[in-house]
Amino acid sequence: MNKITITRPDDWHLHLRDGEHMRAVLPDTVRRFARAIVMPNLKPPVTTAALASQYRERIRVALPAGAGFEPLMTLYLTDNTRPEEIAKARQSGIVHAVKYYPAGATTHSDSGVTDLACCYGVLEAMEAWGMPLLVHGEVTDPGVDVFDREKVFLERVLAPLVGRFTKLRVVVEHITTREAVRFVLATPARVAATITAHHLLLNRNALFAGGVRPHHYCLPVLKREEHRQALIEAAMSGNPKFFLGTDSAPHARHTKETDCGCAGIYTAHAGIELYAEAFAAAGALDRLEGFASRFGADFYRLPYNRGSVTLAQDGWGVPDEIAFGGDKLVPFRAGATIGWKIV
Ligand code: DOR
Ligand code: ZN
Repeated sequence: MNKITITRPDDWHLHLRDGEHMRAVLPDTVRRFARAIVMPNLKPPVTTAALASQYRERIRVALPAGAGFEPLMTLYLTDNTRPEEIAKARQSGIVHAVKYYPAGATTHSDSGVTDLACCYGVLEAMEAWGMPLLVHGEVTDPGVDVFDREKVFLERVLAPLVGRFTKLRVVVEHITTREAVRFVLATPARVAATITAHHLLLNRNALFAGGVRPHHYCLPVLKREEHRQALIEAAMSGNPKFFLGTDSAPHARHTKETDCGCAGIYTAHAGIELYAEAFAAAGALDRLEGFASRFGADFYRLPYNRGSVTLAQDGWGVPDEIAFGGDKLVPFRAGATIGWKIV
């Protein structure tokens, strides 16, 4: 199979940023995806339905003419989020989920949750309103090895959470380990996971190939090959609990190539092509459409998209850098080739 047509896909985990940075990256996503779950980790974070609505308007104004693209907004959970905000968010019709960052876990997470017990009232409201909780699943305990932080989070935080809130709908975002795959498989249908293209394509050796590679640094960090294999198996299993979320996270080149570089990999310029490459390499292209265009919509209780995208096996060169407002960013596979393209 060297060509495939699928229903227009969605990206269930995307960082669009704001202002000139948002305007620079938005066309890459719009060209490929009909909808995207837009992460709320702006500075300051998107913590209310009112802020989400304003952010959505800024995105809509920036859309290329005639783009049939819908930004699906999220709220950033803090220790101070009020249960009433969940009702407002649901009634707004534009907020589709709430994102839980443990404070300090990743980029712009300093306003995140310090103690989940502060949020029990909000979580009850989310159960009542059927509002999904999107989880950045890593502990922040500096005593825990950085490669174990997801696994430990599942044991210490997520298992008790899913057990306590028995109706809460949860997406474990950007899973990176065999343990996370097992966790999701062992939970009821209300618990699902997104998987990025970069975690399907790279293992942690990519961080140190010939030297330190800041453009392969993201959180959760890349893991061993055995974990990559587990993710491939999950993504290509046809199990609707696993669906596409690029976690495309643009950062200006100078903020990554520095003594304390930001976490995040930019993949939106090839947001569906990279998945086609990974699925084709595993001989599972026939499973791409479910993963990219159906299972996420089912989980979020949204209709399937109309229209389609055709992908063909045909190599194309990725530029060394991409304009990013007044800055530049280094995209995934910069200066190298991607094996699939949109036709
Ligand atoms: O690598 C990452 N980048 N992981 C995250 O969780 C956040 C993201 C970002 O916003 O840059
Ligand atoms: Zn993310």
